[in-house]
Amino acid sequence: MEKEKIRQLVSQMTLEEKAGLCSGDGPWKTKAVERLGIPQMWMSDGPHGLRKQENYAEKPDINDSLPAVSFPSECAMAASWDRELLRETAGWLGRESQVRDVHCVLGPGVNIKRSPLCGRNFEYLSEDPYLAGELGAAYVQGVQSEGVGACVKHYLANSQEKRRYWNSSEVDERTLRDIYLPAFETVVKKAKPMAVMASYNKINGTYATESRDRLVDLLRGEWGYDGCVMSDWGATHNRQKAVGAGCALTMPGEPKTDHEIVTAVQAGVLEEARVDEACEQILQMVYDGLEQHREGAKIDYEAEHEAVRIAEEQSAVLLKNEDGILPLKKGSRVAVIGCLAKEPRYQGGGSSHVCAIRVSTPYEALEALGELELTYADGYPKITTRRSLTSADFETTRVFAADYAPDEALIKEAVALAKDADTVLIFAGLPEDMETEGDDRDEMCLPDDQNALIREILKVQPNAVVVLQNGSPVELPWAEDVKGILELYLGGEAVGEAAADLLTGKVSPSGRLPESFPFRLEDNPSYLFYTGTGAKVEYREGVYVGYRYYETKKMPVRYPFGYGLSYSTFSYSDLKVSREVLRPGETLEVSVRVKNTGSVAAAEVVQLYVGCRKCEVLRPVRELKGFDKVCLQPGEEKEVRFTLDERAFSYWECDKNAYLMAPGSFAVQIGKNAHEILLEHPVTCENPDNAPAKSKVEVVMYG
Ligand code: GLC
Repeated sequence: MEKEKIRQLVSQMTLEEKAGLCSGDGPWKTKAVERLGIPQMWMSDGPHGLRKQENYAEKPDINDSLPAVSFPSECAMAASWDRELLRETAGWLGRESQVRDVHCVLGPGVNIKRSPLCGRNFEYLSEDPYLAGELGAAYVQGVQSEGVGACVKHYLANSQEKRRYWNSSEVDERTLRDIYLPAFETVVKKAKPMAVMASYNKINGTYATESRDRLVDLLRGEWGYDGCVMSDWGATHNRQKAVGAGCALTMPGEPKTDHEIVTAVQAGVLEEARVDEACEQILQMVYDGLEQHREGAKIDYEAEHEAVRIAEEQSAVLLKNEDGILPLKKGSRVAVIGCLAKEPRYQGGGSSHVCAIRVSTPYEALEALGELELTYADGYPKITTRRSLTSADFETTRVFAADYAPDEALIKEAVALAKDADTVLIFAGLPEDMETEGDDRDEMCLPDDQNALIREILKVQPNAVVVLQNGSPVELPWAEDVKGILELYLGGEAVGEAAADLLTGKVSPSGRLPESFPFRLEDNPSYLFYTGTGAKVEYREGVYVGYRYYETKKMPVRYPFGYGLSYSTFSYSDLKVSREVLRPGETLEVSVRVKNTGSVAAAEVVQLYVGCRKCEVLRPVRELKGFDKVCLQPGEEKEVRFTLDERAFSYWECDKNAYLMAPGSFAVQIGKNAHEILLEHPVTCENPDNAPAKSKVEVVMYG
């Protein structure tokens, strides 16, 4: 609806009606205003599938929602490093939302993975803001290309779950601008999400829902955002402060506090113009959502299931493949060990949880292929979920790896099978109780019973492959001793078929880690400060998050950011740059050739880093500034091109309150991953006038 009509509508509303509109009607809808014929719109979680709850009043169970396709979690999809795949896959979520009369999907989450311990890492994309921003924008473009809004979350610096409702993220401005804001900036500028969700936490002492500097001055003033800002559920602590700060819509509905807005306006504490702005934002969202709705939409759930299978196949990361143990040889005797092979962990806990329509399991899928002689054993006790966000003792229940005691009998049975096999597949991973919304892990290890099983099997069977299902990095103490490791992450409802296709070579793995796997938790740069003390958490590692820390410190990790193997091999050549000196306002064209030098069709992720060789400013040794995934037939070669602007070489200069391309010696680097640089070309940056960089992120609308 045109903005002028929206304004006229708001001008006809009473103050009470306007105050009421600024909070929802229950947990999932905006309020109607019957007198003026203003309708409601419906929003639902979430990033990994549609969690539409219809009878939430009678049954407020977070896991009770309509059947929906369960997508690979964001942690998995991010590992695809494939913008087009994110768009296509998220497009299905948009189509499914049309069928279910949902007008806005509450996702994606693009918070930066500061620590492997964050309970919601499975629901976020990366430790790197460029990768998170590009893929988050593609996700939003995908959902919105189907006439359904997306709501990017959780703005801002919400990188832990402990004390999330009240802790303050203490972050310096440069760290915010270089690490925690850019993903939101890219999503807002490139994909224009229908809504932005303000997070629970405080930012440097002020609740996100009350931070006008972030919700208005930055989001709208600097980035030009003109959508709707809503609170996270229960994140509004003061209704009139929230509206005054630009958090237009408080969710869920809080009718008991609507009057606070009326009182504040009447007392002159809150300008009515702020309330009008909030109502205009909300009505614009409502009418946009309803106007794009396709009544009577239908969807082919089987086709959607196939789409999420393909998404998972393109996302899984092959971490180790010694002696060509993978793909499995036809006719070989394979012992499948681990409950997760028959009861896979394919999604995370909390508000992103969906009631999957049908889940394929790795064991069934391998069996259905009929190519292998399979045996099976549990190996460890069935994994039960005892914690849920809605359970009374959720906050007080701590879950540790030691709570999963090895079962000697189950191990003995599994070892016997493994011994007789040509190859053993051990399915391991994190139980939902150990990583979920609402809490953070205390350790980075797998459950004790799984590590014990792996150790015992390795004593009798060297041809072992571990298949992982986890939402965030885990310690892999046996990694040197197994021959294969395949990281499925949380692979969605089609994880079984995807795993079987990858393990038998129907598809070559092409995922790359969107986060570093350190050898041990203590190596992580946030380790000494993570979750903080009391109501404050200091982001004292600053911009040195993830590989920015490990690579700058030259600290070895188990597997670096961007790492992943393939069933094929690739070579790179002909790195070229359009200029060797870059000045403000100029762009730099980069090209490189990549060739499939193996014998199977496969996809490669070309990674472009800007390396800092010599610069007056303290900054990470390299930062990801470009990537492209290319599918190549055996022997095929392609040229991949990138365009870098000065922002790619810039950092946030607090004294100038702007991004600045500092003079210095840099390099354009083509990396196999953040640690392994294959080709590089020097580039000198000049900026004699210290001119601020134009934070240009081209607005590319999808579809
Ligand atoms: C939750 C989450 C948010 C979700 C919302 C609605 O607490 O933080 O991601 O969209 O509430 O369920």
